[in-house]
Amino acid sequence: KALVKENAPYPKFDREAHRGGRGLMPENTIAAMKHAIDLGMETIEMDLHITGDGKVIVSHDEYVNPLFSLTPDGAEIPKEDAKKYVLYKMTYAEIAKFDVGSKPYSKFPEQKKMKVSMPLLGDLIDEVQAYLKSTGKKQVFYNIETKSSAAGDGTVNPDAETFVKLTMDILTAKGILPYTVIQSFDKRTIQIINKKFPNVRTSWLVDNKKTTAENLTELGYKPYIYSPNYKMVTAEVIKECHDRGIKILPWTVNTKADIDNLKAMGVDGIITDYPNLLQ
Ligand code: G3P
Ligand code: CA
Repeated sequence: KALVKENAPYPKFDREAHRGGRGLMPENTIAAMKHAIDLGMETIEMDLHITGDGKVIVSHDEYVNPLFSLTPDGAEIPKEDAKKYVLYKMTYAEIAKFDVGSKPYSKFPEQKKMKVSMPLLGDLIDEVQAYLKSTGKKQVFYNIETKSSAAGDGTVNPDAETFVKLTMDILTAKGILPYTVIQSFDKRTIQIINKKFPNVRTSWLVDNKKTTAENLTELGYKPYIYSPNYKMVTAEVIKECHDRGIKILPWTVNTKADIDNLKAMGVDGIITDYPNLLQ
């Protein structure tokens, strides 16, 4: 078991920029993370995949997403190639040539457009930490999602042990574990972390019709955070978490009315695409 330095006190109310706040900036980019910091968020949320050459890359999708990406030549990705560029089958050098920030993204019309590439986790952390240092802004927390799945083992992601090892090696080397939460829908990855790094905070993502008790029994240990689709949240769900000493952090809440309602109900934070709504 590897014990990390003592965890930093967790924010009283945790305002999280989902994928760096993709309502405003190209998702999962360094520019988005810096912007979320400028808006005063406590936590930056991001997703991880593994490249064909074993690097940890920040991306929600397992392929280069044609909805908001352009080819290295600046062209649109044709419909028939929608799932062609699988990150786990490409080198990072190949992936980095795609532009994930210039193409207008109809789902997020307010998103600022800029030519930008998918970052490696290590580079993102280096740049965020350097930005915090140079601006004197408060240390942010990192909510980092391992986007593995049992169904994807060997085709779009490595096995869960390898995924965790590659990720934890970087987080350990960068020294940010006291400010990190590892979240996943893939219970295997957070179960492994709970065993090997018992004091690293973990969060279980759920989106189903099961009760909180059923979900937590299935996980088999007490996570630091229970993170449901916000539509699952009721007073009972909040009480069940708090009675067990677990924080509850719903996603992805994109209207002021829903944010205010959930806050009044007593959730411990909000994950949103629009960090400006949490200011
Ligand atoms: O943090 C929870 C949220 O990010 C899960 O949804 O699909 O945007 O990764 P997704
Ligand atoms: Ca996520």
